[in-house]
This record gives sequence, C-alpha cells and structure tokens, in this order.
Amino acid sequence: MMLETANKILENDTFRRKLEELERLEKERKFCGHGLEHLLSVARITMLICGERGIAAEPDIVYSAALLHDIGRVEEYTLGLPHDTEGAETAEQILHEVGCGKRKAERIIGMIRSHRSNDCKSDTLEAVFYEADKRSRMCSFCKAQDECNWPYEKRNVNLEV
Ligand SMILES: [Fe+2]
Ligand SMILES: [Fe+2]
Repeated sequence: MMLETANKILENDTFRRKLEELERLEKERKFCGHGLEHLLSVARITMLICGERGIAAEPDIVYSAALLHDIGRVEEYTLGLPHDTEGAETAEQILHEVGCGKRKAERIIGMIRSHRSNDCKSDTLEAVFYEADKRSRMCSFCKAQDECNWPYEKRNVNLEV
C-alpha cells in the first residue's frame, strides 16, 4: 500500500529534528512518551478500528496524522503552549515541505487539531483517532501508574480487540 506522504515525512529534516528534540526532552519523563513507537501504534490502531467499524480511512492520511500529532510536544515542554495547535502549525510546514496536496494536508492538520478532544461524532475518523491515541498505552505495565492523572476506569489494563 502506498504511504507516499507518510514516508516522505519520515525522511523530512524538520520532522526528524523535532522527534530528536522530543526524545531528548522526554528522557527523564516517567509518564508516557511520544516517540516513534507511540506514533506508529496510533496509526495502526486507527486503521484496525476503522476496518472493524467500516469507517473510511485513507492509510496515508492516517499514518501522516499519527506521525505528526504529538510533534508540538516540543513547544508544550519548552514554551508551555498547547501541543495540538503548535503541532498543527509545524505539521503545516512539514506537509508543505514534502509537497503534500492541499486537500490531504487539510485533513491531516484537522486530525492533529482535534486529537485531544473527544467531542467528534463517534463514527468519524477523528473520533477513532482520539480513541486510538488512548488505546496505544499499556497502563498496567507503567511504572508511573500511581502518579498518573488518568482516571482508573479509562486506563488500558487488559488487551482488547
Ligand atoms: Fe497528543
Ligand atoms: Fe499521542
């Protein structure tokens, strides 16, 4: 399957720099990290849920949005700015750099902007993306579970399909 934009993002200098910076900033973080493993998990879980529920999902859009959705964490840690809006701005720049078409770029940026809010309609790609972001964590193995502010009933304790 062609993941044209997503593969170009992986090779993009701005993306790589941001991801490296994020890795440095999260080195001492005891809560969930936001490295490549998380980003790819969100993409794969989104595709699985969409397949199960018959929700249309263009893989290149899903993978691109997943790769970019937490990139704004750099500004959140360093400047105290919200990572959804900051990430959307950086994503716009990266998508321009990789030559992504306008319609596709708008959808990807929209998913990044809404990834922290669960008020999207439940049968939309945006709602599934939100859900996949949460389900990508295995809370029962987390060393910081006693200090985590996620409500217990929302934590991923068991594997689910
Ligand atoms: Fe996020
Ligand atoms: Fe995330």
